[in-house]
Amino acid sequence: MENRKKQVTYGMVGGDLKALIGECHRKAIALDPRAKLVCGCFSAIDELNDECAEAYHVDKSRVYYDAAEMAKKEAGKIDFVSICTPNFVHYSVAKVFLENGINVVCEKPLTLKPEEAEELARIAKEKNLLFAVDYCYSGYVMCKVMKQMIARGDIGDIISINADYMEGCFLPLLSEKEQVNTRIWRTDPKYSGISNTCADDGTHVEHLVHYVTGLKVRRLLATADTFGKKLDLNDNIILEYENGAHGAYWFSQVACGSPNEINLRIYGTKGSLEWHQTHPDEVRFARAGEAAQILYRSGDGIDVPAGKLGRIPYGHPEGYYIAIANVYRNFISAILKRCNNEPLTDDDLDFPNVDTGVSGVKFFYAVIESAKNDSRWVEIK
Ligand SMILES: NC(=O)c1ccc[n+]([C@@H]2O[C@H](COP(=O)([O-])OP(=O)(O)OC[C@H]3O[C@@H](n4cnc5c(N)ncnc54)[C@H](O)[C@@H]3O)[C@@H](O)[C@H]2O)c1
Repeated sequence: MENRKKQVTYGMVGGDLKALIGECHRKAIALDPRAKLVCGCFSAIDELNDECAEAYHVDKSRVYYDAAEMAKKEAGKIDFVSICTPNFVHYSVAKVFLENGINVVCEKPLTLKPEEAEELARIAKEKNLLFAVDYCYSGYVMCKVMKQMIARGDIGDIISINADYMEGCFLPLLSEKEQVNTRIWRTDPKYSGISNTCADDGTHVEHLVHYVTGLKVRRLLATADTFGKKLDLNDNIILEYENGAHGAYWFSQVACGSPNEINLRIYGTKGSLEWHQTHPDEVRFARAGEAAQILYRSGDGIDVPAGKLGRIPYGHPEGYYIAIANVYRNFISAILKRCNNEPLTDDDLDFPNVDTGVSGVKFFYAVIESAKNDSRWVEIK
């Protein structure tokens, strides 16, 4: 057992010094000292790349100015790559790393088009590579607790779901004649494809509801408000799940004063569960005929296995970094076990995978298709 591999190495594409999510990935990965950043193509701008090498302690010989070159040169040398670029760069970069036999973690939405996402899923499976998509909210311990409580039947059969993702980051856009901030590539179809808010935030909710309840969406109808801009900024959706239950989602990036709120309410025949990302360590649990109670992460009264997944004692808040770290914890465990020829457990594979990515892209396609066709029902296949 002495030769057992205990650490992996990784590269990053995107995530320069000014970028948002790359830094979150690096910090989240560093919470479990099992992965070392050794190479990168951190920016499409050469000078920024060089600055990153110094700041991230990456040897200059392993900084690349083209992701495809990085994939070829690093094949067989790194255990995985983290892709933290804008949406339009995900597909080509993920594809070239897969083709070079490298496991992938990619940001969401996985691709701009469903056929691209399906192609990535096919290549990953053909090559037997691990592929995670950073739908990080399912990394929160209390979301795992809800999933296990629902699977055990604690709230009975699900009869109704209500979920939203609210933020106000693009409200200023409504008073601009032209888009002036070039860094907000999200609202430009060249870089974001057919959807902004639904692809960016809505797919998180689509994934989280599926993760927690196990239910798939059968069909949906939607409105998508653009307020005269190029892409959706506020979406309202009615859904029908495969068990016949209905749900309602609302995603907005023009919701003044809402701080990346994700609110999830799940109602069943015997009870209900409610979770808010602004208080991620708490779940409101009600059993029919009894007073509702608040369950706290790592606190009393949680008797499903996920109750033991908290990293710090009850009362000290865990948060977004730890949710991402939990995605990586399982993903890296799976890589290490494969390297050590050990069998993988369901827990090792408890991370949003490439099929989750495909599902997200199909979801925002259906939402935009419905909205463009007078909110007619659209089946999801
Ligand atoms: N999971 C989440 O909660 C979450 C949160 C925020 C963003 N995201 C996703 O992360 C991705 C990046 O978002 P962001 O907010 O960090 O964007 P950003 O604009 O802040 O950063 C993008 C980074 O990609 C780099 N880049 C662009 N083109 C490149 C190329 N061709 N090669 C190499 N690097 C390139 C830029 O230099 C920059 O470092 C998006 O897909 C977004 O949807 C996910």
